[in-house]
Amino acid sequence: MFPNKRMRRLRRKETTRNLVKETNLSKDDLIYPIFVEKREDTLDIPTMEGIKRFPVEGAVKEAKKVKELGIPAIILFGVPEEKDKKGSFAWKKKGVIQESVRKIKEEVPSLTVITDVCLCEYTSHGHCGVIKNKDVENDETLELLKKISRSHAEAGADIVAPSGMMDGMVKAIREVLDDNSFQDIGIISYSAKYHSNFYGPFRDAAESSPDFGDRRTYQMNPSQRREAYIENQLDVEEGADMLMVKPAMPYLDIIRDTKNRFNLPIAAYQVSGEYSMIKNAIDQNLIPEEAVLESLISIKRAGADMILTYFAKEVAKNEF
Ligand code: PBG
Repeated sequence: MFPNKRMRRLRRKETTRNLVKETNLSKDDLIYPIFVEKREDTLDIPTMEGIKRFPVEGAVKEAKKVKELGIPAIILFGVPEEKDKKGSFAWKKKGVIQESVRKIKEEVPSLTVITDVCLCEYTSHGHCGVIKNKDVENDETLELLKKISRSHAEAGADIVAPSGMMDGMVKAIREVLDDNSFQDIGIISYSAKYHSNFYGPFRDAAESSPDFGDRRTYQMNPSQRREAYIENQLDVEEGADMLMVKPAMPYLDIIRDTKNRFNLPIAAYQVSGEYSMIKNAIDQNLIPEEAVLESLISIKRAGADMILTYFAKEVAKNEF
């Protein structure tokens, strides 16, 4: 009898649909980004509705809430009190991230604390490293990334996440951590990070836009697929514990390739532009709120084991 294969049989009721569900989204998969800076008051970020920049104490409270909601991890981004050419506030013992990590670890020890390791929030020019001849000098920048990572580890970070796309950054960081008895601190490498237009709101939030040129000499061209394989492979060889693809939704093919080819856990970063785009569309009643879950399930279906997302808290509040 035609049609002899009726796909709709298993879609008739919710319970059956749940039974055959191929991809699940769980709170355990989420990492919530928190922006922190040294000032008294909390600031709204106009381009990212619902996301704030917290003072250190505020970030500690936020971390507690995140834990209470059942989200396992946060990633911290810092806005320093001062910026200079080398970004030296990035590795100060009493820097904004170092202090936040210390306090969060004291008050919410069971939360996994990840720190973003990059210079763009700390340099006066907004680039992710030391400038020589109008470009970021790779190997000198590695020395600074080592100092930053070490200072984050000393403050108590569980995992460091280098995001600057410098060649050799994972190896350099692994070495400095191991040499200083931080062999148990993990590295999530932003291994396949593209030169994306979707970072705009983040750069407002972190005040990290480059004041000349752009990041094309270190972040990947959006046209590249095979090159992501090489980037990932190098970071595996250099000792990364997890890989990351960023942004997420415009790069689902890269997430899938990475999943198929590597056995390390894979994170995907649903970045600020993706967040604000969905958020604004919901606010304007163009799409329903459930679009958030659809965006996250699509990232998981593509192969991400975990997702860094500004929606983490909202999602964790819902039952799903
Ligand atoms: C820093 C960094 C960026 C993001 C995370 N770490 C921005 C950039 O490369 O300019 C973007 C995150 C987001 O857009 O949510 N190197």
